[in-house]
Amino acid sequence: MTELATVATSSAVYAPSAEVIARAHVKDWDTLRAYSLEHPLEFWAERARELEWFQEWTQVLDDSNKPFFKWFVGGKINIVHNALDRHMKTWRKNKLAYIWQGEDGSERAISYGELHRMVNQFANVLKSLGVRKGDRVTIYMGRVIELPAAMLACAKIGAIHSVVYGGFSVEALRGRIADSQSRVLITCDGAFVNGKVVELKQIVDDALKPGDLPVEKVIVYRRTGRAIGWVEGRDHWWHELMQDASPICETEVMDAEDPLFILYTSGSTGKPKALLHTHGGYAVYTYTTMRYVFDIQDEDRWWCAADPGWITGHSYIVYAPLMNGATSIIYEGGPAYPAPDRWWSIVEQYGVTILYCAPTAIRGFMRYGDEWPHKHDLSSLRLLGTVGEPINPEAWLWFYKHVGGERCPIMDTWWQTETGGFMITPLPVVPLKPGSATRPFFTIQAEIVDDAGQPVKPNEEGYLTILTPWPGMARTIYGDPDRYIQTYWSRFPGRYFTGDSARVDEDGYFWIIGRVDDVIKVSGYRLGTAEVESALVSHPAVAEAAAIGLPHEVRGNAIHVFVILRSGYEGTPALAEELRQHVGKVLGPIARPERVEFVARLPKTRSGKIMRRVLKARALGLPEGDLSTLEE
Ligand code: WTA
Repeated sequence: MTELATVATSSAVYAPSAEVIARAHVKDWDTLRAYSLEHPLEFWAERARELEWFQEWTQVLDDSNKPFFKWFVGGKINIVHNALDRHMKTWRKNKLAYIWQGEDGSERAISYGELHRMVNQFANVLKSLGVRKGDRVTIYMGRVIELPAAMLACAKIGAIHSVVYGGFSVEALRGRIADSQSRVLITCDGAFVNGKVVELKQIVDDALKPGDLPVEKVIVYRRTGRAIGWVEGRDHWWHELMQDASPICETEVMDAEDPLFILYTSGSTGKPKALLHTHGGYAVYTYTTMRYVFDIQDEDRWWCAADPGWITGHSYIVYAPLMNGATSIIYEGGPAYPAPDRWWSIVEQYGVTILYCAPTAIRGFMRYGDEWPHKHDLSSLRLLGTVGEPINPEAWLWFYKHVGGERCPIMDTWWQTETGGFMITPLPVVPLKPGSATRPFFTIQAEIVDDAGQPVKPNEEGYLTILTPWPGMARTIYGDPDRYIQTYWSRFPGRYFTGDSARVDEDGYFWIIGRVDDVIKVSGYRLGTAEVESALVSHPAVAEAAAIGLPHEVRGNAIHVFVILRSGYEGTPALAEELRQHVGKVLGPIARPERVEFVARLPKTRSGKIMRRVLKARALGLPEGDLSTLEE
């Protein structure tokens, strides 16, 4: 990479070193990009042939019923066959799949062979509890190896997993169980995070207490060993069920388009949506993007420091690394516990070669100072990556210099729960500009348009849209196909609307600006204003509430809320604090507002919709824009 001295501006370009190019799977980006645009279906068919199919497809893409695209039509596959079973025939059976470290320092390592056995046993457990192909299973666990194992066990037998992030709390969990109608729920007694225990089983008990959810069986993995509540007949220990389970389990033959999982994500309105991904296209897309973008090789130690409960973890902790036969690191706990060099000691200890994380984590580490990464030998690293929000050039440069030793290219990957995998991203051979996710992945055509759907000029801000279908795209919103059309395919007919704004510079590099809808990215986590608002109005003091995101130095955005109180309540600092805690308890600590402001009125449109952009402009002291529909 080029010298750091020249880089103060965001227009500085970092060219890859000869060493990076020499080992890369893709050495000539331009040629492959051109080929992929000319022959997208051939490109994807070739990638798909790198995986094992029970039966080959008859048609690569069926676009006869847009926007409900189908990929690898007629193909039979199971993603778990590719993630695990097929490695049993090779030396990879004895390769490590996961190296795990608990926050308390305990360690585990599990080979592909052992993971395969665990997944088979747990798949048999699920079957013995009556789980069948197409059933939904909710998984609400901490970061333990059993979380990927549970996901894989579901997929193996054709059940649809619905993972709820372990940092969510009672109401978020309840809503997701109710929507998915899961009869089986898998959890842990608790999880260690930042020196504290998150009482996962207690949250499950609270969520199920009203008795209106369909959950009949709760499987509990013991992690903390602390005392927990127990409902006889409903609750079962993971280890007891596993004791007699057979390690032999046939992998279900799935249609390429059969559902693999649903994952809830916050949208612009209403309750979170369940995006649905499938076995075939998702397998091909995640396998390929990881292989090319992170140039994964057999000797790598890959660490995606996300939570398995979000799409980043689904795609790049569970499915793509296993399909690529990689060894992954999973770390259970908080990034700065017990000291700000926890991550760097993990990199050193396990010889991590690729580290993929969120800009918010980098900004957090920057604040602790440069000395923490310098305490450790980080020379094993050869590639870095970021995801979840735009990375500011300062954070990029800090990561590049103090973690990557000015040697490791940074893959700034733009993508979404909806896209399944990376969409706009560099490859190691692509010259980098700090803060830009560079250019679209192979076959993908992206364009910035204005309100009328017309392409804008270079460097002009507009809406980020995608023109071409890709195998990893979500197929629908589970149970609500109309909302799928409405949310993603109606704003700009014929295009997928991302919900993001961006600009493209004169070199064709994309610069993502942020969400243009009511989604707030807090520390890279995606939250909806509607979720926060409904948590607030569930408190007896609150008549009405509006939530907005305002810039925050470390977290990217912080939630600020405006609250109208019911009569008889007074807007005291104590009540503000109580409301903050209330949201944390109902939704989860990440949703806890930074600031609560009591107001007498909220700006609304004539049809009664809260104008959050007006609140935001006021809070930032910016012009309020078009107020023709305002009525306070
Ligand atoms: C944002 C996470 C800038 C964006 C994989 C997107 C990013 C939303 C980047 C999706 C990036 C993700 N640069 N912004 N590299 N990656 N985003 O569904 O606003 O949790 O729409 O998926 O995160 O968030 P989600």
